[in-house]
Amino acid sequence: MGGFGTLGARVRPPAPLRDRLPMTAIVCETPRLALRTLCDADAAFILRLVNDPEWLRFIGDRNVHDLRDARRYINDGPVAMRKRHGFALDVVERKEDGAPMGLCGLIKRETLDDVDIGFAFLPEFRRHGFAREACDAVLERAAREFALPRVAAITSPLNLRSMKLLHALGFEFIRLLKMAPDDRGTRFYLLSLRDTPD
Ligand SMILES: CC(C)(COP(=O)(O)OP(=O)(O)OC[C@H]1O[C@@H](n2cnc3c(N)ncnc32)[C@H](O)[C@@H]1OP(=O)(O)O)[C@@H](O)C(=O)NCCC(=O)NCCS
Repeated sequence: MGGFGTLGARVRPPAPLRDRLPMTAIVCETPRLALRTLCDADAAFILRLVNDPEWLRFIGDRNVHDLRDARRYINDGPVAMRKRHGFALDVVERKEDGAPMGLCGLIKRETLDDVDIGFAFLPEFRRHGFAREACDAVLERAAREFALPRVAAITSPLNLRSMKLLHALGFEFIRLLKMAPDDRGTRFYLLSLRDTPD
């Protein structure tokens, strides 16, 4: 009894990361999650995530239509950002089985002065508190490792799940921004990571 992979059975523990994905590194861990850097082997996961209806609606169309596009997204986006800034969006893996569930991390955009937090999970991994747990870890790193005085966040006013998460994390709504000429308003938030404001 107690075999792997059957109903109610234990989940098979993942092989060590260096064996599964030698091109990635774990950046931090929480009780349920490991956050690790993206690599080419994540292309299938990225292809699915960035074409999820909620990603397309609330984040935008990244024009990723096949695995080659997904590798381009990974390398031109998060991999390049990590080289430039030392942080980026990372894969959020479920520790118990190594399943890639979503992306979470820090982003430096030319359009914002402050570094902002980004997060997106596949539908089956929403509403389990995974996004909250990953964001807590990312904000902890932002304060301790990157010594950021504050972190920003942006979201559509229609994205109720995102706004709920930002409020739970302690972000304060500042104002509506126009991020592009056709933008009808993006909600801009800040979270101070210091006890006293700058
Ligand atoms: C935005 C997004 C990341 C929010 O994810 P989420 O899973 O709803 O957020 P949380 O991690 O805070 O989960 C909270 C929910 O998990 C539930 N939950 C279940 N188990 C839990 C646990 N162990 N711990 C904490 N919460 C738990 C909570 O009750 C809550 O559900 P409720 O709102 O019905 O009460 C997700 O909706 C998403 O990926 N959307 C598409 C991409 C996107 O829009 N990204 C943001 C762009 S700005």
